[in-house]
Amino acid sequence: MDNAGTTAPVGEVPEDANQHCPGTEAETAGKASACEGCPNQQICATAPKGPDPDLAAIEERMSSVKHKVLVLSGKGGVGKSTFAAQLSFALAGQDKQVGLLDIDICGPSIPKMLGLEGQEIHQSNLGWSPVYVEDNLGVMSIGFMLPDPDEAVIWRGPRKNGLIKQFVKDVDWGDLDYLVVDAPPGTSDEHISIMQYLKATNVDGAIIVTTPQEVSLIDVRKEINFCKKVGIRVLGVVENMSELRQQIEMFYGGAGGAEKMCRQMRVPFLGRVPLDPQLGKAADEGRSCFEDAKCVASSTALKSIIKRVLLATEKNG
Ligand SMILES: Nc1ncnc2c1ncn2[C@@H]1O[C@H](COP(=O)(O)OP(=O)(O)O)[C@@H](O)[C@H]1O
Ligand code: SF4
Ligand SMILES: [Mg+2]
Repeated sequence: MDNAGTTAPVGEVPEDANQHCPGTEAETAGKASACEGCPNQQICATAPKGPDPDLAAIEERMSSVKHKVLVLSGKGGVGKSTFAAQLSFALAGQDKQVGLLDIDICGPSIPKMLGLEGQEIHQSNLGWSPVYVEDNLGVMSIGFMLPDPDEAVIWRGPRKNGLIKQFVKDVDWGDLDYLVVDAPPGTSDEHISIMQYLKATNVDGAIIVTTPQEVSLIDVRKEINFCKKVGIRVLGVVENMSELRQQIEMFYGGAGGAEKMCRQMRVPFLGRVPLDPQLGKAADEGRSCFEDAKCVASSTALKSIIKRVLLATEKNG
């Protein structure tokens, strides 16, 4: 079941929505009056109920991770993995200890974007070991486990959820300043799983990546509504490939745009990343755009966005 209900009233979130989500594992999940209009209502209503006995083990494992940031998008192809990869490079470049967890099981592109294609995960007594780009940048992805990257697409829900759980419970991340999670695009049951597993561990919040087109923004509104419902803070929205916006505004007289949507939904707008073929090239070649003079347009934009992310998360302690 990969498609949730799609009845969320666009742009309408009750002020006190967070307090009303009964919790995705509650008996009333998906059925409470607060669930009306939540994009995940169908999934919550039919998912198995009751507290998950593994939550304590996840909490214990995650206790050595200072900050956890989810990178989300309403749909695929908007640059979510590119952003997650470059955010991780940037944080590691500032001498932070960084983990990058790719749980976008439908399209695990992180190994390629970090230059780690063909690498394998090793097991030690402490659990699965991440694959390291540098001493302070470790990566975990289902992509390391598949002989054929297309295989993941046919996995069914319970198998995907089980693997996601293992990634947060059984990986020996060590002490981390930041765990960046490239999460599956909303709305799917894996999406709910990770939220459920990580919520118990004090997630700093979610960064939502979108393109400027209205179709993408509609899904982002649902994503923001979902975060608000389950009580995950929206650190902000990144508008990627924003040159598209100028073309759209030319055609439709300035309608749309992530910034305007952020104002309407009262979440921070983190900034725009231009359409930059050099960024696409760096991502394809598994490189940091911050060390590439040709990426100046996108890396300058990314730097100011990442500065805001650091400010927002470090305020949390
Ligand atoms: N700002 C950008 N400029 C140019 N190309 C980009 C930009 N952001 C992403 N891309 C390219 O767009 C494609 C989709 O990006 P990706 O990060 O895989 O999206 P998602 O994870 O949302 O599915 C990739 O080929 C990537 O290199
Ligand atoms: S996530 Fe949405 S549908 Fe699920 S329990 Fe919370 S409010 Fe209800
Ligand atoms: Mg991706």
